Amino acid sequence: KGGETIQPVTLKFESIPGALTDAVHVAEGYTAQVLAPWGTPLNGIAQAWQDDGSNTAMDQANAVGMNHDGLHFFPLNDSATEGLLCVNHEYIEMDELHPDKAATFNPDGTRNDVDAVRKEIFAHGVSVIHIALEGDQWVVKEDTRNRRYTGASTMDIAGPLANTKHVVTPFSPDGSQARGTLNNCGNGYTPWGTYLTCEENWPGYFVNQGATTADQDRIGISSGVDATGRYRWETLAGNADERLDEFRRFDVTPTGDSELSDYRNEANGHGYIVEIDPYRANSRAVKRTALGRFRHEGCTFGTLEAGKPLVFYSGHDSRFEYMYKFVSDKMWDPADANSVDRLGTGDKYMNDGTLYVARFDADGKGVWLPLTLDGITKDNGTLADHFSTQAEIILNTAGAADLVGATPMDRPEWCAVDPITGSVYLTLTNNTKRTEETGTNPANPRLMNKFGHVIRWDEAENHTDFTWDIFVFGSAADASEDINLSGLDEMNQFASPDGLAFDSRGILWIQTDNGADEVENYTNDQMLAVVPSNLKDADGKQETISAENQGELKRFFVGPNGCEVTGFTISPDHRSMFVSIQHPGNWPYSDNAAEATPEGTTVRARASIVVIRRQDGGELAV
Ligand code: FEO
Ligand code: CA
Ligand code: CA
Ligand code: CA
Repeated sequence: KGGETIQPVTLKFESIPGALTDAVHVAEGYTAQVLAPWGTPLNGIAQAWQDDGSNTAMDQANAVGMNHDGLHFFPLNDSATEGLLCVNHEYIEMDELHPDKAATFNPDGTRNDVDAVRKEIFAHGVSVIHIALEGDQWVVKEDTRNRRYTGASTMDIAGPLANTKHVVTPFSPDGSQARGTLNNCGNGYTPWGTYLTCEENWPGYFVNQGATTADQDRIGISSGVDATGRYRWETLAGNADERLDEFRRFDVTPTGDSELSDYRNEANGHGYIVEIDPYRANSRAVKRTALGRFRHEGCTFGTLEAGKPLVFYSGHDSRFEYMYKFVSDKMWDPADANSVDRLGTGDKYMNDGTLYVARFDADGKGVWLPLTLDGITKDNGTLADHFSTQAEIILNTAGAADLVGATPMDRPEWCAVDPITGSVYLTLTNNTKRTEETGTNPANPRLMNKFGHVIRWDEAENHTDFTWDIFVFGSAADASEDINLSGLDEMNQFASPDGLAFDSRGILWIQTDNGADEVENYTNDQMLAVVPSNLKDADGKQETISAENQGELKRFFVGPNGCEVTGFTISPDHRSMFVSIQHPGNWPYSDNAAEATPEGTTVRARASIVVIRRQDGGELAV
């Protein structure tokens, strides 16, 4: 952070109890506003949102997408009250999206309605939204930069896969482009003002009913003669002109003579970190393949130091999957933070570098293992024994990570870097398939880990060694001592940590995507806060959460019934905080996010951003 000293802060709000209502609950003295719910028009082409699901595909392509997730506020003219908000749209709720979901399927389960399926594809992706604070309300402003990136938008491919045979398709015979971004879950941003959206559970959108490849088997593309895609988009015939085939491209079964006559390579354009320049209206998104191909949850840059490489962390959210980091070849030049050729700056730092995967060893030690042709495998060979190019390694990143002996984790989700200590924190959301049979490992020590934990590490100078410990274990308050290892009580019990972010004051925000009845019966998904750098023992060593200090971990926010609380960004003045409410059950009832839907009333549920502010307009949380 360029040598500026960050003053330690203390949390000055009272932890709130859990809640199970159709409303959001926030600490006393705070307000919560609904902003940019699904269907909010972004320009004059989109019709106003209709509460009967009757908006068209064209409306959806020009309006806010569904199931908001990661998000980031990009200031305009350094303002804290006006900016471009980028927000992910992970997946869709078909019951809400359509007037009659069943009518969009044939009796045999195939799809029958071009406009409906287009609408589904367009409800995925990313929104760029100009917002401003007017009075005490944030509003959406007209702007030519308001736009959508959807599951159908043309995107550039950069890094090791670019222009290789692996990404040659009828749409892009030179392998330079891919169509669309899907299942955009966590996010990141760069020091030069671009947004990073992360492609998470994309494999399920594709089917291969024929011969599969090693990377398809490893990542889990739906296969076998009865394979079906997540929303069965592949079953719609679509446009007869093959080059423009919108739907059948999701069927990657090799049926023709080559990659130019079928869609065998279509999925190879998915599974990446995607960079977007919010400030440039008509810019194309870029798939940064050097950062690996897997189910990316998030993408977080490490501590910036002039003259040192830039580091990005990204977890693979699936049971027994791995934690990755990318280290740039180019050294960080702080002048690049002000670059106006932002995607060119992305090319500089994000196309060339080394991708590593983490091995967590006993005694709190760990090693980053390079995923390069000369990377050493468990059997003391090299990855060159299995792959002939870096592009092949990237295509099957998880398979390469298996070979080098990475540590299988309890579902790596978001990652965050402490601006005060430089420690890196990672949520491991849960893993109920960790059994006696699979065994535990030092970094994932609980069997049947339904509550999840937050691990952290400190990097060594050499970029390959690190030391780690477990910061907090999720738990029900009344769980036994061998489960409630951090001594949580009713006022901070949580399960399935997922969203994770530090703000620039050193406050760590932990969001949940609950998966444990014991906590679910007490509270909806929530957001907690803690200042890890304040927790030090007498020798100055960083402490973990324990029965002695658990009052430092406080519940700030609880979401409405059915939802997940995910995604975090805060205005530069720390007076407005933005979080996403994904898949709510019966909410929102009004612009006031804290107003409960009345008993007996059913609303068409809409994922939304919630803006949290202090009633007196002051800085949040301190
Ligand atoms: Fe989309 Fe891993 O949560
Ligand atoms: Ca998540
Ligand atoms: Ca999750
Ligand atoms: Ca989710």
